[in-house]
Amino acid sequence: MAVFVTGGAGYIGTHTIVELLENNEQVVVLDNLSNSSEESLKRVTMITGKTVDFYQGDILDSDLLDNIFTTHEISAVIHFAGLKAVGESVEQPLKYYKNNVAGTVILCQAMGKANIKNIVFSSSATVYGDPASLPIKEDFPTGATNPYGQSKLMVEHILTDLANSDPSWNIAVLRYFNPVGAHESGLIGEDPNDIPNNLMPFIAQVAVGKREQLSVFGNDYDTHDGTGVRDYIHVVDLAKGHLRALEKLNTAPGLVTYNLGTGQGYSVLDMIQAFEKASEQTIPYQIVARRPGDIAVCYAAPEKAKQELNWQATHSIDDMAQSSWKWQSSNPNGYES
Ligand code: NAD
Ligand code: WQD
Repeated sequence: MAVFVTGGAGYIGTHTIVELLENNEQVVVLDNLSNSSEESLKRVTMITGKTVDFYQGDILDSDLLDNIFTTHEISAVIHFAGLKAVGESVEQPLKYYKNNVAGTVILCQAMGKANIKNIVFSSSATVYGDPASLPIKEDFPTGATNPYGQSKLMVEHILTDLANSDPSWNIAVLRYFNPVGAHESGLIGEDPNDIPNNLMPFIAQVAVGKREQLSVFGNDYDTHDGTGVRDYIHVVDLAKGHLRALEKLNTAPGLVTYNLGTGQGYSVLDMIQAFEKASEQTIPYQIVARRPGDIAVCYAAPEKAKQELNWQATHSIDDMAQSSWKWQSSNPNGYES
């Protein structure tokens, strides 16, 4: 039996596949390489000494999914494939709804047809919008503020209806907080296509000399140093959470939802400082206006995942900065180098 991983050539996908292979799982990957390259999967093989069955194609292609599901014996699906740039989603909402929402519907239809009914879905803390209190628990009200977030919330609702309609589905909705860092080997990591939208890859590119300076979006928030606070989680911790979620699905829980975060909030300036320590470089930055849509503080209540999945994050902020620096400094141009 194999685990089918959509979007497996991407950032979180590759790290999760390493964990799956090291746990002796067979892995089948589908990725259209719209935001990744096949080189990432070659690196996975370098780390593990194992290979995956790779299909370059799209989750919107139902014939291809049918073909994969008849060729391979699949026990469960981990569904990472999706577009994730918040700003782009505001400019091109239909692209996001088609890819993320319609894509998931087509995937689930093909799964149902093949009688594969265990799925782990990549959701996001963005579904909590601006929380009324902290830390954020899974039962907090949801509400997204941009089409990307809406697409995640819509999929959550679709999966809930699916589980209600047919109790033989087992679905783990994982709400990631802010994934950062890289595998300790330095062989795989986050490789943004263009100018990074997210903080850590931007800092890493400044440290390696690809960008002149970081813009810090606002220092007048109600936080310990005025800059935004987030729950940064090491991608390897996150990857391990997926294996625990797969184990949970084997107990036939129906639909379950978990925060994957550390429960600890760090500010933008905290992250800069950690990166300066790890890289032994100064990170030049300037304070600029707040980024529209940003919230002041966001961090998880991680207890539910600890109790029910026996999972908790173990990597520190220094581990996040060091691994990110190792990846960026050994691959200044990402997988192209
Ligand atoms: P990523 O872009 O590195 O990986 C996503 C992969 O999916 C890419 O390799 C891309 O080529 C592929 N893909 C996209 N659309 C596809 C399609 N229609 N068919 C086949 N492949 C397709 O992103 P990531 O950071 O690894 O994120 C993985 C998932 O986790 C996404 O669904 C994302 O929305 C979600 N998520 C990410 C974060 C984050 O900050 N990185 C936070 C919360 C949730
Ligand atoms: C973190 C902090 C910024 C860049 C986004 C998505 C969310 C999820 C994770 C997918 C904030 C500040 C950032 C920069 C800065 N993705 N910042 N200068 O906004 O918490 O979440 O990624 O699901 O949906 O919205 O992450 O890394 O962009 O920002 O000062 O150049 O860093 O203001 O306080 P965010 P981020």
